[in-house]
Order: sequence, then C-alpha cells, then structure tokens
Amino acid sequence: MQSSTFPPSNRASATLQQGPAWNLIQQVKQQPRYNPKSHPDGLINLSGTINNLMADWMSKHAKDYLQFTTSELSYSPLAGSNELLEAAAGFFNRFFHPADPVLADHVLAANGVTSLINIIAWVLYNSGDSILYTTPNFYMLDYNLGVRNNIITIPISTTSIKCPFNTAGLIPVLDSAIQSHSDISCRMLFLCNPSNPQKGCYSKETLKALAAWCAERNMHLVVNKIYTISTFDNTSFSSILTIPVRQNMHCLYSLSKNFNLGSARVSFLVSRNLQIRAAVSKLTSLTVFSDVFVSRFLSQLDLVQDYLDTYRPRLAEAYHHTFAGHGHTGCFQLVFTQEPRATELAIQQIQAAINKLDERKRLDA
Ligand SMILES: Cc1ncc(COP(=O)(O)O)c(C=O)c1O
Repeated sequence: MQSSTFPPSNRASATLQQGPAWNLIQQVKQQPRYNPKSHPDGLINLSGTINNLMADWMSKHAKDYLQFTTSELSYSPLAGSNELLEAAAGFFNRFFHPADPVLADHVLAANGVTSLINIIAWVLYNSGDSILYTTPNFYMLDYNLGVRNNIITIPISTTSIKCPFNTAGLIPVLDSAIQSHSDISCRMLFLCNPSNPQKGCYSKETLKALAAWCAERNMHLVVNKIYTISTFDNTSFSSILTIPVRQNMHCLYSLSKNFNLGSARVSFLVSRNLQIRAAVSKLTSLTVFSDVFVSRFLSQLDLVQDYLDTYRPRLAEAYHHTFAGHGHTGCFQLVFTQEPRATELAIQQIQAAINKLDERKRLDA
C-alpha cells in the first residue's frame, strides 16, 4: 500500500500491516465467488461462518417483520429498546436454561459480538493489564480484543492438553500462564463456548470452576456463546447462564450464526454487574431497523422453537454428509453449514491442496 503524506495514527497504520494471513484474505476478497451458474470455478469463502441451512425458512418468515412505521424509524435507545431487551430475556430463559432467570435489566444490546468484544475489553482493562484467552480460537479474536485498547493479550494454547474442556486439563495450564506473566495483572479470561474451531463444549462443572478460578484472582470471565444453539446429536452443552450468577461473569451472544442474521448486527451482553452494564451502555449504538426486526422475531418464542426444530436435524444431516467418507479432520468442521455442493467443492479443493503439499514434502525428502 502506498504511504500517504497525511497518514492515520501510528497505531491505525500498524493495523494495515497485519501479516501474511491478513494480506491473503484481502487478496482473496478480490476474486470472484463461487456461484454454481456464473462462477462454478469461483472461490468458496471459508474465512467466516456462513449458515445457509435455513435460508428458505427465514425468507418465508422474515418478510413479516420487515415493515416499519415512521415512528419506529426515529431514534431509539442505543443499547436496545425495552421490547428488544424483554424479548431477549425471554429467549434466554426459554432456550438457555439459566440457573437464575434473566431479566430485561440484565441484558444490553449492541451491534455484533465483534463490537461487544472490543467494548468489553475497553471496559474491563486498566492500562498495562492483560487478557487471557484459550487457543485455537477464531481468527479475529486477538484483533478485536486488542486493536483499539492497546491490551496485552495472552493466548494460551490448549492443543497439547488431552481434555482441553475439562478442569483437570485446563486449570494447570491457566495457572502456569499466570505464573509466567506474574509481572502483569490479568483482568479477564475469554472463552468461546461451544468452541470455534475446536467444536468442543465446556461442561457445567468446568464453567463453575473457571468462574471461581477467575473470582479468586479478581478476574472477569467473559464467555462468547455465539454458537450455543447450533448443537445437535445430543451434544452435551452447558451455557455459562446455567451456573449460579457471579458479578464477574459476562456472556456475549449474537444472531449472526444460529440464525444467519449477521447483517442485522444484533448482539447481547448478559451480565448481573450493574456498573459493567452502565459502562458498556455508553458505547453501544444499535440501529432501529435491527432492533425492531429482532424484537419482533425473538418475542415469538414458538416460532423460534419451530426454527430450531427444523434447523437442528438439517445441521445434523449436513454434518454427517460432510464427514461421511471425508475423515474427521479439523478443517472440514468449518464447511458443513455451507450449501452441500459448495461443501463438496471446498473439500475437493482442500484435499487437492493437501495432496500437493504431501507431494512436495515427498519430493523434498
Ligand atoms: C466465535 C465467533 N465469535 C464472533 C464472531 C463474529 O460475530 P458477530 O457477527 O456477532 O460480530 C464470529 C464470526 O465468525 C465467530 O466465529
């Protein structure tokens, strides 16, 4: 990129040089995308999770919620209208089995988990503090946590732990991370549950132990549960809401993945900590279209139930279809929510790339 005479700040300039993976993603954005008719050789985008499994259901129902009155188009509360927060609380109570009922007062709305991660990091850390997060985690996490906040992020690899979702495996690794960074105060442990890209889930006991571990160290536990409802085949899953409330626990959720409503940019923070909610609410700015649309949808809990009853079997089928005959390798977990043909092509392309690498290795040996 050519440097300009009037560049942005040094910290903003640094975000323009994010390394080879980032550069590759930018290049890939210029390529035509796969389309079965116009671009059968186009690229299949695996850089984000897109969930097309329920497009027919959504297009049938969404249009009922896309009518707006002029009064609805004026300003509305920037951290969510009462209707939206009530609907979200009802949604969490029905589908997340909280240990203590969630009230509308415990919920704030924002525009996406991406934005909430950035905000919560700013709200929780003091200058020079650090944030722990487990890896592998999703690609943008480190950037979202640190970019505007100048935070020291400490990724903790769990790849060598036999059971990365159990207390016995995880706590010693966290203890050792704290010991080896004893000169820095850790303010937060950030988890993704269910985990992307590992696919595993933390048990209720593990979440309880992690919340207690954080509380003993005056740390906050922030859990991103964006994939919560996308479990199937009786996968055992416990949301952070199922454990007794603590003031240091905060959870993040959005409709981008389970409902494929990424463009609505609606996310929720659920926290019983009044001061944290007050600080977050100064930084959120939800658009009224999204607020109205999502409050209409989430307030119809039987309709949401119908969505899930249709979605989960489809997800299970897509998963088994993808895995059948393709082995159980990590990268294939990423592709099963795309349309079936795209999934097959993606697997072929990945397989061809792996074969090429194997061949090169063989020749180099
Ligand atoms: C684990 C995880 N969290 C958050 C996001 C982004 O969520 P949102 O669309 O709500 O900003 C993604 C998107 O890929 C993700 O995989």
